[in-house]
Parts: sequence; structure tokens; C-alpha cells
Amino acid sequence: MGEPRVPERAAGEIPFDHALHGDSIGMDCAACHSGANARANAFMPSKADCMDCHRLPLTEKPGIETLDSVLAKADEQPWTHKRFLPEHVVFHHGVHYAAGVACSDCHGEGYMKNRYGGEKFDMQTCLKCHRGETFKEKGFKPAATYCAACHR
Ligand code: HEC
Ligand code: HEC
Ligand code: HEC
Ligand code: HEC
Ligand code: HEC
Repeated sequence: MGEPRVPERAAGEIPFDHALHGDSIGMDCAACHSGANARANAFMPSKADCMDCHRLPLTEKPGIETLDSVLAKADEQPWTHKRFLPEHVVFHHGVHYAAGVACSDCHGEGYMKNRYGGEKFDMQTCLKCHRGETFKEKGFKPAATYCAACHR
């Protein structure tokens, strides 16, 4: 894995709260995470994606002043793709979207308040759903459980 182009800290200084950017303002997850419906990686928004709305004075919330000054200095792509799973594991967002699995089925309902509110992505979490043991009521068909489906 190469060095991220922007130090972790720089992106970390940009205030952002998922809870303010969801259903309440009509935003779909994929508006910012443009890969999540079709590609392997979900992708992160660019500075321009934020500026689409925030070049207008949308709100007087306290975070906006900080946002303006920090975004002005930020790189075009302040957030970079992070790998959470080990390199030997294959994961593809698009196949799950196509099978009707919702973002919240994996990232959790609590997500909009807390980005780590979802399930931990250990192997058992993947397998429980692939065996059809969890989420039965949603009618997901069982998916592959042979080792090579998820491991290179
Ligand atoms: C307005 C843009 C925007 C929308 C809409 C949005 N996100 Fe995000 N998301 C971000 C940004 C910016 C980050 C990186 C900063 C952060 O994590 O606070 C991020 C980070 C994440 C991460 C990675 C967390 C991590 O630890 O790095 C996940 C997972 C995620 N979002 C899922 C979702 C889901 C699920 C939805 C819909 C319910 C959603 N996002 C809607 C902008 C957005
Ligand atoms: C579709 C329009 C839209 C986009 C795109 C958008 N925002 Fe917002 N943002 C809003 C609105 C509307 C509010 C005010 C919400 C409220 O008052 O409840 C807001 C509020 C905020 C606040 C103030 C929160 C506070 O509590 O002080 C910050 C900071 C912010 N957004 C950061 C971002 C960042 C960073 C991005 C890009 C990843 C982004 N926004 C993308 C519409 C947008
Ligand atoms: C089947 C479970 C599952 C579903 C459904 C799912 N994700 Fe993910 N998501 C993951 C896993 C696992 C990772 C970590 C992948 C990795 O390490 O490469 C992840 C990572 C992410 C990240 C971080 C990406 C990065 O580049 O840092 C974002 C953002 C994200 N997901 C958004 C979404 C959105 C939006 C949806 C719905 C459209 C969604 N996810 C649906 C399991 C899921
Ligand atoms: C909430 C249920 C759920 C979770 C959790 C889940 N998956 Fe899946 N996965 C599915 C479904 C449904 C399919 C599509 C099956 C189909 O279309 O035949 C699928 C398909 C796949 C495929 C394509 C191979 C195939 O069976 O078609 C891979 C690879 C995969 N998942 C990996 C993972 C990994 C790795 C994790 C954990 C990080 C994970 N999945 C977590 C439901 C889930
Ligand atoms: C549905 C996806 C999936 C399938 C099928 C799967 N794995 Fe995994 N496996 C994962 C994920 C995700 C991880 C990484 C997270 C973790 O360590 O729990 C992992 C991690 C591992 C690890 C490393 C554990 C560690 O401590 O680093 C081993 C060994 C492993 N799997 C073996 C297997 C074997 C053997 C099979 C077949 C019987 C198998 N896996 C089938 C998703 C899967």
C-alpha cells in the first residue's frame, strides 16, 4: 500500500457529520460514495462534491466556518480509499448491491450517527449471511461459502 497523498490528519480536520447528510436532505449514500452501487470500492467524495452545496451559505451551523477555511486549504481529494480487510480477501460492493443487500445491512443502522456503528467485518459476519443464517427475512439467496470465493 502506498502512502496516502494527504496526511491522515488533514482529512481528519475537515468537519463532517453523516447524520446531517442523509435522508433529511434527500441524499443517497452513493451521491458521495459513487462506487458503492457498482464497483468493488465505495470511493470517497472529492472536495468539489462538498462544494456543490457548500459554496452557498446553507446553514449557520458552527461547523461551517471551520469547513470553509479547512476546505480552502485541502487537496482536491482529501479522503483516500482505505482498505479495512486484509489484502487476501476479495470484496466487491457492486455484487452486494445487485443482490439487494443494503448499505445498512453491513454498515449498520447506527451508521448515520457513528460511522463505526456497523458490524465488524470478520469472516463469521460474511459467512453467516452467505449461509443464509442472518437476514432470512430479507430473502437473500445463499451465496458462495467455498474458500476461494473470498480468498485469493
Ligand atoms: C455528503 C457526502 C456523504 C454522504 C451522503 C455519505 N457519506 Fe459516507 N463518508 C463521507 C465522507 C466525507 C467520509 C470520510 C470522512 C468521515 O469518515 O467522517 C465518509 C466515510 C464513510 C465510510 C468509511 C468510514 C471510515 O471509517 O473511513 C463509510 C463506511 C461510509 N462513509 C458509509 C456511508 C453510508 C452507508 C452512507 C449512507 C447512509 C454514507 N456514507 C453517506 C461522505 C458521505
Ligand atoms: C446536497 C448538498 C450537500 C452536500 C453535497 C454536502 N453538504 Fe454539508 N450540509 C448540507 C446541509 C443542507 C447542511 C445543514 C444540515 C442541517 O442544518 O441540518 C450541511 C451541513 C454541513 C456542516 C455543518 C455541520 C455542523 O454541525 O456544524 C458541515 C461541516 C458540512 N455540511 C460538511 C460537508 C462536507 C465535508 C461535505 C462533502 C463531503 C458536504 N458537507 C457535502 C448539504 C450538503
Ligand atoms: C455486504 C456488506 C456491505 C455492503 C452491503 C456495503 N458495504 Fe461498504 N464496506 C463493506 C466492507 C467489508 C468494507 C471494507 C472493504 C475493504 O476493506 O476493502 C466496506 C467499505 C466501505 C467504505 C470505505 C471505502 C473506502 O474507500 O475507504 C465506504 C465509504 C462504504 N463501504 C460505503 C458503502 C455504501 C454507501 C454502501 C451501500 C450502497 C455499502 N458500503 C454497502 C461492506 C459492505
Ligand atoms: C448481509 C448479507 C451479506 C454479507 C454480510 C456479506 N455478503 Fe457477500 N454476498 C451476499 C449476497 C446475497 C451475494 C450475491 C449472491 C448471488 O448473487 O448469487 C454475495 C456475493 C458475494 C461475492 C461474490 C461471489 C458470490 O457468491 O456470488 C463475494 C466474493 C462476497 N459476497 C464476499 C463477501 C465478503 C468478503 C463479505 C464480508 C466482508 C461479505 N460478502 C458479506 C450477501 C452478503
Ligand atoms: C464470504 C467470504 C469468506 C469465505 C467464503 C471464507 N472467508 Fe476466510 N476470511 C474472510 C474475511 C473477510 C477474512 C478477514 C477478516 C477476519 O480475519 O476475520 C477472512 C480471514 C481468513 C483467515 C485469516 C484469519 C486471520 O487470523 O488472519 C483464514 C486462515 C481464512 N479466512 C480461511 C478461510 C477458509 C479455509 C475458508 C473456506 C473454508 C474461508 N476462509 C472462507 C472471508 C471469507
